Parts: sequence; structure tokens; C-alpha cells
Amino acid sequence: MSSLPMTLLLSVVSKMPKPIRDSVEMRIPDITNDASKVQLLRPSHVYVEHPNLDQFAKFAADFGLVEASRSRTGDTIYFRGYGRDPYCYVATKSRDSVPRFKGGAFVARSREDFDKAARMPGATLGSLTYCPGGGEIVTFTRPDNTFFHVVYGQKEREPDHHTQGTGADDYNAGETVHEPSAITESLGPFNTPFSKPRKGKFQRFHPGPALVHKLGHFGYVFPDFDAELAWYTGNFNFVPSDVLHHWDFANIDVMAFMHLDHLDHKDQQRQQQQQQPGAGKGEIESAEDESWWSDHHCFFLQRAEPHVTKAFCHHTSFEVSDVDTQLVGHEYLASKGWHSVWGVGRHVLGSQIFDYWADPSGFKIEHYADGDLVGKGTPTKREVVGPFAVWGPEMPSDFGDKFPEAFLSKMRGSGDGSAGGFLSRWWWSGSQA
Ligand SMILES: [Fe+2]
Repeated sequence: MSSLPMTLLLSVVSKMPKPIRDSVEMRIPDITNDASKVQLLRPSHVYVEHPNLDQFAKFAADFGLVEASRSRTGDTIYFRGYGRDPYCYVATKSRDSVPRFKGGAFVARSREDFDKAARMPGATLGSLTYCPGGGEIVTFTRPDNTFFHVVYGQKEREPDHHTQGTGADDYNAGETVHEPSAITESLGPFNTPFSKPRKGKFQRFHPGPALVHKLGHFGYVFPDFDAELAWYTGNFNFVPSDVLHHWDFANIDVMAFMHLDHLDHKDQQRQQQQQQPGAGKGEIESAEDESWWSDHHCFFLQRAEPHVTKAFCHHTSFEVSDVDTQLVGHEYLASKGWHSVWGVGRHVLGSQIFDYWADPSGFKIEHYADGDLVGKGTPTKREVVGPFAVWGPEMPSDFGDKFPEAFLSKMRGSGDGSAGGFLSRWWWSGSQA
């Protein structure tokens, strides 16, 4: 059914009694992980094409990304955080001046998992030899020129530690976690009403960017939501942490926040031996070094509103240290004249402190801190859409859209007419209005 009749049909049905509304069935099935799937370890980086690479580089520096290196031709910049990944954002100059999100890359758990991905239908094998950290990559082209990548064999960085205040006055001396910072002059423990470990010392900050630790998550809005969800969760260890259904239609699931399920190492070997005699003898990284806890979501898929005909990336998100970093970083981006989208606030699902910005090409990009972890035994929850924030500014009514059309027009002349996500107009037109 074309999008307009579908929109009209659902608009009419939404006014009907609950039994009729419940007859509309668009629920996603139960999803679990098993060893037959490619096991991914963590998100690594995203690829994005920008019309004006120099302008994006200015934004990236103000956002807290560090330039790791440039390609010899100068048309690609590898930005890193202070975590283990050699880069977490790859920005390339768009040859036709059209901004494009070119997909996110995840690290395969093992050589065996990477090879399994390379054997999947549609896989294209590539080399990262000339990129920081080296390695190999498998790329999948999905509908509407969306992409998904799996990497393996990259040489990891030694994560940066505290970069200032290492002298005798360092409040953090002797503590085990030292977050790099571009905003602190002196920083000690947080004093709470009944516990005040910081005595005679002062919290002092200065303006600066919120340094990025790593890529946390990104997500797509898909018209063909069910098929794409089936592809991603059928082939990889993505498992929903939270599934959201439509306000008026209990059987229309509109969003899945997914984590990477980390099979216990022994369970994984056992399953592989059961499913493929002789398997399980390949190189499998020790799961004992990697907690099977993982971020509440590292990937999300959203059902596009009926009128949306083309998939798009809703936003990418990068982890920063804490709420002070978020707020000082917010002020710093604002002082540089960049466009705030929504934040600073606290999400409900995932619990992250969030802050969404527009990059100069019109992509939404988020700082987050203090996200939830989920793991084995954390059940998938299913509930109605919203609200999305515990505290913070009111969510913009067009937050789910590809980007505010006025802004896109200002930035690059015109939109492409494909904007629209479940948070905006139609999906959001129920009791929330
Ligand atoms: Fe996010």
C-alpha cells in the first residue's frame, strides 16, 4: 500500500474502538542471540560525507573529537575519542556536495565472526591497511543506500588517562579512573549530603569542548522497518533492550533500542559445537576479559511514519565523561555559534544525560553520559512510546524528523522531502498532543 492511503487508513482506524485498533498487527517477534549469528563486540566508528570538510573539522574540534590523521589526498579525516578505537568518526568530503551518512562499523568479536560476516550474502570485503590501526572491513549495502560495516584486526589505542592536574594537588591522585578533560582546572569527588569526601578543595572549570570517549550508538529510520530489523537481528547479536509501540495501536511496534548480547564464552563454544561439528576451534577472544554487560543501546531502528519513503540516519551519539562535561561542553558549542537541537536533559530509556546538536551538514549528533548497562538476564521490555526525558528542555516537535526543514534550507538549499520519524507529527499525534 502506498504511503498516503496507509496514512489515511491508520488515521481513520485510530479513531475506532480498541478491538479494531488491535486488529492491526505490526509487532516485532521475540529476538534472542545464538552462536549461529555473527558476534559483534562494540560499535567502533561511523562514516559520513560532508560538503564542506573544513567546516565540519571546526565543528568536530568544538564537539570534542580529536583529529587522528588525514588521508594523503586530504579528503578524509579520521577523528578519535580518548578510548581504544583508533578512530570513531570518519569524515570524507562529498564530491557532489550532498551530505551522506555512510553507515556505522562494529568490531567483530573474533576472526571467526569476521569471516562469517564476510561470507554473508551481499558482503564486500575491504582493507583498512592505510587507515589508522589497519585491519579489515566487510561492508553491506542495505536499502536506500544505507550501509553497515564489520571490522576486525585493528590495532587498538591505549585509552588516554587524566591529562592534567597530575601534581600533588591532583584531587584524583590515587583514584583508579582518570578521565581526560579539556574543561577542568581542578576536580575532586562529588560532595553529597551525607558523604563529603572533598574537603578544602575546589571544583574549578574553564570553557572547552566535551572530550569524546567513544562512539556510543546510532540508528536508522526505516520505511521497511520489519525487514531491516529481521536482517540486523537475524545476522548479528543485536537484541532489543526496549521495544516501543504506538500510542493508539498496541500492536504497531515503532522502535527498538538494541544492545549487543555477549554470549558467555563457554555457551558460545557449546552452541557452535552443537550447530556445526568441528566449529568452535577458531580463534575466539576470551569473553572473560570483556564483561557481557553492554550499553543499553548501541543501535536503534525506528519505523518511519507512513508518508516517509526513504530511510535515513536519525542521529549518531558519542560518550563523554559526566554531567559537568556535558554542560560546559554545551556552553562551548553554543559560544561557537553551533545549532543546539535538544538538551541538556536526561533520557528515560537508557538513562543517558543527552545533548543533541546539528553539525554543519545537517546531521544530528549527540553527546551522552551515564548510560545504563544491560546484560544476560536483563529482559526485553515493551511499552508505549514516550515520554523520552525525565528532565531537560521540552523536546522539539520536529525532533524525529530528518532535520528541521528551515535549517536544512538555510544550510544547503533544500530538503529531500523524506523527513519524518515516529517522534514527530503522525506517530506522535495520539494522547500526547
Ligand atoms: Fe541517542
